[in-house]
Amino acid sequence: MSYNNILVSENDSITTIIINRPKKLNALNRETIQELHDAFAEADSVEDTRVIILTGSGDKAFVAGADISEFANFEVAEGADLSKKGQELLFDFIENLGTPIIATINGFALGGGLELAMACHFRIASDNAKMGLPEVGLGVIPGYGGTQRLPQLVGKGKAMEMIMTAGMISAEDALQNGLVNHVVSQEELLPLAEKIADKILRNSPLAIASAIKAVNANFKDGVNGFDVEIREFGNCFGTDDFEEGTTAFLEKRKANF
Ligand code: COA
Repeated sequence: MSYNNILVSENDSITTIIINRPKKLNALNRETIQELHDAFAEADSVEDTRVIILTGSGDKAFVAGADISEFANFEVAEGADLSKKGQELLFDFIENLGTPIIATINGFALGGGLELAMACHFRIASDNAKMGLPEVGLGVIPGYGGTQRLPQLVGKGKAMEMIMTAGMISAEDALQNGLVNHVVSQEELLPLAEKIADKILRNSPLAIASAIKAVNANFKDGVNGFDVEIREFGNCFGTDDFEEGTTAFLEKRKANF
């Protein structure tokens, strides 16, 4: 598939998706959101892709937010529609993908950019990264899941402060507050993502997909996460991966998933 705003490459079961609008600090316009949806769906459908790394092009930004120029003239119904469609098409979609996604934050992750990173399964950042939800400074609120996912990651008080002040926090602050898992220099960032991806690749992709479902269930209204865990745990016993994993252990060899 060819895209206007993103670059996609595959190497050793890892698909890397780069948001590529550097002149606009990789801001998410409608076309980019659609292209990201298509690229994630495609990567998830290819059996050989077992980890997805998401990053921004250039050395300045992961994503500096939703493209403000696209919604500056919107009215109430259009605003609600933008939020709903974006959440369905990209943010909720990738959070629930069975293939693990690592957000690799290489600079500004603001507004929709931080919301995109938060919808990924976990995040790592370069030491120059700056993160925030500046929407209230524009007279709106975060609309791509930010009011829900930020408190899940950093706690309610820190999230309230970040949202109300519309300020940016440093990579170090993000690390201390659980928003990102690791901080390294910009040169070390993609190699670190690939190193973590390599560790994921050693494990059962089917079990990982089940684990994603079970962990996410904890954050869904009206869903009992323990029940989902029981179901997914049981399902694992019917997979070839379970047979291979347990057999390999008993035969004292590495599993080949
Ligand atoms: N939407 C649309 N365009 C954006 C954008 C966004 N969210 N963020 C940056 N851009 C564009 C700028 O308009 C500028 O375009 P231009 O060269 O055609 O004028 C270009 O990207 C470079 O940005 P610039 O502001 O000149 O870079 P900077 O280094 O001075 O500042 C930021 C960087 C991130 C602090 C600043 O761009 C910014 O505050 N962006 C908006 C962040 C935001 O509010 N995001 C939430 C949106 S809901």
